Amino acid sequence: MTPSSHAACTQRRRKCASRRTSALAAALIIALPLTGPQAGAADIKAGKKKAGMCNVCHGKNGIATNPEAPNLAGESAIYIEKQLIAFRKGERRHRQMTIIAEKLKDDEIKNLAAWYAAMKVTVELPSLDN
Ligand code: HEC
Repeated sequence: MTPSSHAACTQRRRKCASRRTSALAAALIIALPLTGPQAGAADIKAGKKKAGMCNVCHGKNGIATNPEAPNLAGESAIYIEKQLIAFRKGERRHRQMTIIAEKLKDDEIKNLAAWYAAMKVTVELPSLDN
């Protein structure tokens, strides 16, 4: 604030206060998308819906039904996202996954990753004799 506008403030306090409030509101509006709870948050429900097209190979519960496909249940969201982006970019190639990933948008990848990562998996180790 310049000294002259500050002087104007002292003379017309109320007007200045409201101007300050709106400046604060503007700052909040700018800051909210970066810090708010919805900031880039994944939508697990949307991920579940989208996963309908993955179920045929990766299983409805993330346990693969296609012997060539990996299980996705409980896999880290970071890893799933990285792999889908790699398929989309062509850095990782597979005749089916490349075609599927090419059509996925960033938010869809995030949501799908959140859906599979949210699945709880229990593991039973094989019992070995020795
Ligand atoms: C037609 C069968 C098929 C469908 C449908 C399919 N996938 Fe796959 N997916 C595969 C196969 C097979 C692989 C293993 C690729 C390889 O060998 O590199 C794979 C690999 C992946 C991987 C890498 C996992 C890892 O452990 O490295 C991710 C992530 C993945 N798929 C996500 C998805 C998602 C999300 C969908 C739906 C949008 C989907 N896939 C649909 C067959 C499929």
